[in-house]
Amino acid sequence: MSKKTKDKNWNYSPAPESSSSATIEKRYNLFINGKWVKPSNGKYFKTINPANESVLSEVAEANEKDVDIAVKAARKAYDKTWSKISAKERAKYIYRIARMIQERAREFAVIESMDGGKPIRESRDVDVPLAANHFFYYAGWADKLEYAFPMRKPKAYGVAGQIIPWNFPLLMAAWKIAPALATGNTVVLKPAETTPLTALKLAEIIQEAELPDGVVNIITGAGKTGAAIVNHPDIDKIAFTGSTNVGKIIQQAIAGTNKKATLELGGKAANIIFEDAPIDQAVEGIINGIYFNQGHVCCAGSRLFVQESVYDEVIRKLKWRMKSLIVGDPMDKNTDIGAINSSEQLKTIEKYIAIGKKDGNQIFQSECFLPKKGFWCKPTLFENVAQSDRIAQEEIFGPVLAVQTFRTVDEVIAKANNTPFGLSAGVWTDKGSKIFNVTSKMKAGVVWANTYNKFDPTSPFGGFKESGYGREGGLHGLSAYLKFD
Ligand code: NAI
Ligand code: MG
Repeated sequence: MSKKTKDKNWNYSPAPESSSSATIEKRYNLFINGKWVKPSNGKYFKTINPANESVLSEVAEANEKDVDIAVKAARKAYDKTWSKISAKERAKYIYRIARMIQERAREFAVIESMDGGKPIRESRDVDVPLAANHFFYYAGWADKLEYAFPMRKPKAYGVAGQIIPWNFPLLMAAWKIAPALATGNTVVLKPAETTPLTALKLAEIIQEAELPDGVVNIITGAGKTGAAIVNHPDIDKIAFTGSTNVGKIIQQAIAGTNKKATLELGGKAANIIFEDAPIDQAVEGIINGIYFNQGHVCCAGSRLFVQESVYDEVIRKLKWRMKSLIVGDPMDKNTDIGAINSSEQLKTIEKYIAIGKKDGNQIFQSECFLPKKGFWCKPTLFENVAQSDRIAQEEIFGPVLAVQTFRTVDEVIAKANNTPFGLSAGVWTDKGSKIFNVTSKMKAGVVWANTYNKFDPTSPFGGFKESGYGREGGLHGLSAYLKFD
């Protein structure tokens, strides 16, 4: 390659996905008992597109009264229909939902990217297919619970209250609703206030699939609405994904009650690169672990540990790769990094970048052009981070990587586990024995080896320590919605 060609700044032509497949109503009411009903206080709030700050729609704000109506509908549906019909019938409905998500996959992907800011490539190739897969997977178990848990008599809890975050809006709804339905529970689900639209689209599908009224209720609102679900006396089980702070509030709120809970909270995952790792693949894994999806992933590989002997090579290649990341329009199929989900989240990320600088860490940011409107953050890396630095200890939830070095296996295991969290980790090495040794000592719910951020409905996901408790996905995720005699 001649020098001239090498230095040329190649740009891809824009390849925007059309938004024409997306039908977004001007206003959404609450989906309760199979119908769209107005909120009792008449209040609505706006949801915007974080890539351009335009208003997409307004959605109802449910208060305690609405929550009560929704829980009553779910209870009635549980008592009168859902617990009475055969498991085979339940499965049919869940399969139907899975197929309908597939049929409307493009619309879901487009709306997900518009409402939340994630690149269309990710919502199209990851979020939506995985959401459909979760429904397919759990539909398959619905009439086989006795085989899933032999010699035990599994029984549904009753009504599940489910509260989900904004980073994987449709996927989190699928993670929560599919196993609940398969096990015979009914549901009141609340999406996050910045990304309610795909859950409301899912409500449309649930209506079209002719699920019995009240089996799934989808209500919108912010933290207060979530708290009203948690505190409602007739909820049997809470499933929550979100911040550790809110997880702690929920734990306190249900202490002393009979409510069961699964809490999937924050993370500060270690991604460990040994000197014998395939370096190019590892660099791609680092990029995938922290920069794709704007770092809005609870299992993001936000702490990078590189063995000293390959440090220079890894960091040089990583910076070079960071420079080629395309930040911008989430609807463009070339985009690697979309918009930050909200101005609040951007402020949080910027606060941590300022803390990282103040602590004297060496910062590197790729020189990319950021759009004027919307919420954006450049892919950021901090070198020479100390174990005690806040950017190495606290969850940032943005495209910010804290890099540390290590010399020995024992040293990196100790450093990686020295965190209040324990959701996930990654290990890159050529040696199978090293993988077994390190992964078995990692205090994290999910450990990837020579890959990162891979998900599958058959595989349980969940945390240790402040990352929460309980598992979603696989048989573990099924048992989280069942009691056993
Ligand atoms: P959050 O935990 O406040 O929101 C998650 C969900 O909980 C939303 O649906 C929200 O409306 C609801 N909620 C809020 N307060 C509640 C309460 N008292 N009772 C019941 N439900 C309540 O998260 P937020 O404020 O959006 O993000 C803050 C930080 O949380 C992020 O910077 C990130 O570090 C972390 N986070 C972690 C996620 C994960 O997947 N583990 C997802 C989203 C955020
Ligand atoms: Mg939005």
